[in-house]
Amino acid sequence: MVRVSVPATSANLGPGFDTLGVALELRNVIEMDETGIDDVVIEVEGAGAGALEDPGRNMVYQAARLVFQRLGYEPNGLLIREKVAIPVARGMGSSAAAIVGGLVAANALVQKRTGGPGLDREELLRMAVAIEGHPDNVTPALLGGFTVSCMDPDRGPLYLRFPPPRGLRAVVVMPEVQIKGRKTEQSRGVLPAQVSLRDAVYNLNRTALLVAAVAQGRTDLLRVAMQDRLHQPYRAALVPGMRSVFEAALSAGALGVALSGAGPSVIALVAESAEPVALAMEAAFQWAGSNARSLTMDLAREGARVLSGPGREQDMLDRPPHWG
Ligand code: HSE
Repeated sequence: MVRVSVPATSANLGPGFDTLGVALELRNVIEMDETGIDDVVIEVEGAGAGALEDPGRNMVYQAARLVFQRLGYEPNGLLIREKVAIPVARGMGSSAAAIVGGLVAANALVQKRTGGPGLDREELLRMAVAIEGHPDNVTPALLGGFTVSCMDPDRGPLYLRFPPPRGLRAVVVMPEVQIKGRKTEQSRGVLPAQVSLRDAVYNLNRTALLVAAVAQGRTDLLRVAMQDRLHQPYRAALVPGMRSVFEAALSAGALGVALSGAGPSVIALVAESAEPVALAMEAAFQWAGSNARSLTMDLAREGARVLSGPGREQDMLDRPPHWG
């Protein structure tokens, strides 16, 4: 049996549409094993229980199958157990966690059974991006930290990751609003095909400032650096109260605030007490007519982890020397 933990993520962080992401210390755990009986059994505990047990609709299984195919490995019956802590379809990277968890668990299972090297992290990332369609959630889910991702037509996904500044935490507030249909498709559908040069430059400024601020620990710059004109203004129509929730977070002491991924959740980064920020954001959603609940989390320095598999417990990325 192999066991993998994979973190929640928040993509975009305001201006970095389809580019920036951060891993959050809230983890799904996936166990995978061969059963010897020619069947696929999926057990889900937590969010999604009752809806995700069908292999045809289960992203963990669908991703795992691709690894088995790529490695030419035919599992002898498969049991997948998922403990799902990441809320589904709330903008916290639940689909990225399922995809990355399935890829990493299947890879570890094949490594364990065959003693072979399996797929390397670059290949796993390429597969995850191909399934998800954009890299900004799957990169931090796989690798942890604060990540910058770029799709190159020749080289595929390129990325850099930084340790998140120390002491920063995330408050994510989830309104109960439902975005109809497939949530991410719907909230990408409201975006314009073209934007003005002025708005593009506005986002270039902020994205560059945000990356530099994270790299240098300049959390005082996050308020401006997390502003956006490429996607949030359009998505506001799908998230009643979004602007007042932003204002409430900043007034209560948040360092910066943004829509989490494609929404509908809002993420605030905080250094001091998180509770007043969480309460103010929940109250602002309530005022706009949505019940909301909040989660406060550390930013996760590590991405997907193989907890028991081929050999020692391992992070998916060997730590470079500067990685503290
Ligand atoms: N960058 C993506 C979006 C993240 O904003 O649509 C959500 O999957």
